Amino acid sequence: MDDAKTAPTSTLKGEKSQPLSKVGKQLISPLRKWYRSHSRELPWRTTHDPYLIWVSEIMLQQTTVKAVIPYFDRFMKLFPSVQDLATASESEVFRAWEGLGYYRRARFLHQAAQVIVTKLNGEFPTDVAGWLSLPGIGRYTAGAIVSFSFDKPAPILEANTVRLYARLLGLQEDVKSTSAQKKLWQFAEAIVPEDRPGEINQALMEIGSQICRPVEPMCATCPLAKACQAYAMNLQTQIPVIKSRVKITKVIEYMVAVERDGKFLLRQRKADERWAGMWDFLRWTSPFDDVERFDKKANPKSHSKSSHTASELSALEDALLLQVGCKLEVQSLELVFVHHVTRYALTQVCVRAHPLNLKTNNKQALIKEVDDSPCMWVKPEEFAAHPLSTSARRFANHLLKRIHTPQLPGMD
Ligand code: ADE
Repeated sequence: MDDAKTAPTSTLKGEKSQPLSKVGKQLISPLRKWYRSHSRELPWRTTHDPYLIWVSEIMLQQTTVKAVIPYFDRFMKLFPSVQDLATASESEVFRAWEGLGYYRRARFLHQAAQVIVTKLNGEFPTDVAGWLSLPGIGRYTAGAIVSFSFDKPAPILEANTVRLYARLLGLQEDVKSTSAQKKLWQFAEAIVPEDRPGEINQALMEIGSQICRPVEPMCATCPLAKACQAYAMNLQTQIPVIKSRVKITKVIEYMVAVERDGKFLLRQRKADERWAGMWDFLRWTSPFDDVERFDKKANPKSHSKSSHTASELSALEDALLLQVGCKLEVQSLELVFVHHVTRYALTQVCVRAHPLNLKTNNKQALIKEVDDSPCMWVKPEEFAAHPLSTSARRFANHLLKRIHTPQLPGMD
């Protein structure tokens, strides 16, 4: 879509009432008025620079505004221009992204910067189609960048506006369904004005996040309440309808820090693995799924050796022998925590292990590769220089602290 507004094809209630564009007109003036006195000052709102807006939008897909601000500021200091981003190494970009999660987005951001610099002469696209042709850019992001940077009337639909539009429309179907998505995008197209659309899109998102909140929406102070079907039907807490499709799977995953001469083994994750390209400790998924034994409240001994069965530990050591090519012995249980990734709740059991029967010139023991991936031996003080997955960073920070304040190992 080349930023031209397509003709609205549905109506506010999906019935024979006024066309959407008319409804849009009703919303514009109260929206602008409200936004001018209530908008938060955010680093990406005081600019029309597409680079800043693009990076902020990708980061905002990951987490909240509050959490993004320090990442955004740091990222802009490290890579002040698209040229700086394009010429950085992937590792540097991952390191700056670390903690935000979904590293694929950082990889796409980096790749898109390289396309802009090498194929587009460093010029940013100025329309939705141009942005959509870049890696990692979807319809929402393209619309946001084009409307905020170039003030072109492109529709937007993200978490805040889905909720807001669903309530304004009184949409009583699953917002993720194809038919609801179609209605929501049509609504988004119909309400975006030709005149200063960037401001309206920002205002819609802001009202979605500040007033039309997921729980306890502030309808009494909402400037759009008069036009809101959900409010009229007193269904604002039932809308949006979100059908949960994901069932959380609980998994016990061991993270193994192999230690030798004060250094720890890190392995780079492969292209087809989650957190591709990041560095990591060794991992092994336990065939047992009784995660309750690691619940500290229910089982005070859960973080001691007694929470591992002998057969589990020997299965772990066998698996490590296969992965690494030399016998490792688990020394201590260091840390247990739960890490959520997509539909998995991973109970991360972090242990320290060392190679057995090591001779310094034993080639195998130097371990340069695990499972066809490059490895390196790193001092705890050097962990900070390498991009690690969020869970590996937690273990790395624990090890760093532990090395500097030695205690008795937790494994009794
Ligand atoms: N969420 C996504 N994009 C946003 C923006 N530009 N401002 C505030 N919240 C957002």
